[in-house]
Amino acid sequence: MEKNKNQYQALINGELYENKQWVTVMNPTTNQPAGQVPALTKTDIDKTYQAAKTAQIVWGQMPILKRIELLNNWKQLIIRDKKNMADIMSSEIAKGVKAAVSEIDRSVEYIEYTLQEALRLHPQSYTGDSWGVINKLGVFEHVPKGVILAISPFNYPVNLSVSKIFPALVTGNSVVFKPATQGSLVGLYLAKLANEAKIPPGVFNAVSGKGSEIGDILIENPIINVISFTGSADVGNRISKKSLKTDLILELGGKDPAIVLDDADLEDAATKIVKGAFSYSGQRCTAIKRVLVARGISDKLITLLKTKTEKLTVGIPNDNCDITPVIDMPTVENSKKLIKDALDKGASCLTGNQFKGNLMSPTILTNVTINMDLAWEEPFAPLLPIIAFDDIKDAIKIANDSKYGLQASVFTTNINSAMSIAKQLDVGSVNINDQSQRGPDHFPFTGVKDSGLGVQGIHASLISFTRPKGIVVNWKTKI
Ligand code: NAP
Ligand code: G3P
Repeated sequence: MEKNKNQYQALINGELYENKQWVTVMNPTTNQPAGQVPALTKTDIDKTYQAAKTAQIVWGQMPILKRIELLNNWKQLIIRDKKNMADIMSSEIAKGVKAAVSEIDRSVEYIEYTLQEALRLHPQSYTGDSWGVINKLGVFEHVPKGVILAISPFNYPVNLSVSKIFPALVTGNSVVFKPATQGSLVGLYLAKLANEAKIPPGVFNAVSGKGSEIGDILIENPIINVISFTGSADVGNRISKKSLKTDLILELGGKDPAIVLDDADLEDAATKIVKGAFSYSGQRCTAIKRVLVARGISDKLITLLKTKTEKLTVGIPNDNCDITPVIDMPTVENSKKLIKDALDKGASCLTGNQFKGNLMSPTILTNVTINMDLAWEEPFAPLLPIIAFDDIKDAIKIANDSKYGLQASVFTTNINSAMSIAKQLDVGSVNINDQSQRGPDHFPFTGVKDSGLGVQGIHASLISFTRPKGIVVNWKTKI
């Protein structure tokens, strides 16, 4: 019987695998099934970890140039199938097809950079020149940590997967990869290509199933050495409570503020804020999720934001609209709740607040104050609150009072103000005169508080997936 092309298979120990139980992945645009992935069980997952543990020993000892050659073959297949992967991604997460292609291009570049950077991960050597000891030479290699569990979110299902998988593999680890259910079709497609590229059995494995059902089975396995997770703070915090003795890299949610001072280039700031807030319908961890604007220029900025936002196209991913359906109805309900709470407490709707199913027009609320939930919560939707401030100290306090600390941006033409404010913001990175953003991908990327733990970024990821292993040569001085 011919295989149903909308059913994708997991990859366990070098075999494409299905167990006849399926999770249906819905298309957020049509509300019809986009495909199915296996609903794996504890037995399947335990078997996967065992395979990953065994395979890692040989993979970790393979010369790095051989590992790079195999990973490069996999990359070539991703380039070959880029268009197909973009269409699949678009169907399951409602990302515009052009944006999906661009995500894959970015991911290919990520892989290329990673494979080159891995060659520069030289051992460090130390001489014994302290404590009165001179007859020692320590060489510290970067050795793999072992078995990596990589869990990715729905919004960048290729980029935020390869940015865990490739740094982990090239440094000699094996990987058990669990894509987000919305995003698992392209995730398992990646696995099919890994198999075609002849990545050795057990070195890279991809498992599927609903996180709410298999999450604990995945994270509580004692074989895991590192969990690299990107997703919501709720799930990230649950992982940090429930995981066993493993290293954790958590990249979680955010409430990134854009602080606009009265000497900012307002035209430029407004363009960047609209892009930062509404790209991929606001479903970016690093989206601008609140604007803190000096009261004296707030009317001018608000007018510019309204004009630019109303030029955005709203529609379906195949038309490459700026705003496409958000991932699911609970996201819409959450936005509606936040909007109602803000309006009830005195905010005004500048633009938007229109809904058709899960297609939501880009919405800006003004007169937002700190007693409103929208000032603090992450909607993960095209919804932007504007908060005016009189004193920059208040703006910094509001920025830092968030439970999140991913990124922030500061718009000003005064470098002294920019630097002084940037130094005081309790976040992973501050962008001066640009939107908050993770890329370029080789920059270290990290969040504080509920935004995460540990560091990603190409070099930082290679370091995060390795540990120093020292071999110390001792000798007796002989003259
Ligand atoms: P999510 O609901 O937390 O899901 C993320 C991943 O965790 C998915 O693979 C999900 O699988 C899995 N999961 C769910 N429950 C689990 C459990 N109990 N144990 C283990 N894994 C579990 O997040 P999302 O909706 O995909 O993504 C949106 C969130 O991610 C936002 O908060 C956003 O800010 C954040 N994010 C952060 C970054 C960053 O780098 N800081 C980047 C992108 C997104 P299922 O899909 O099967 O439930
Ligand atoms: O959450 C998504 C984020 O990783 C997207 O990357 O560079 O657009 O912030 P960037």
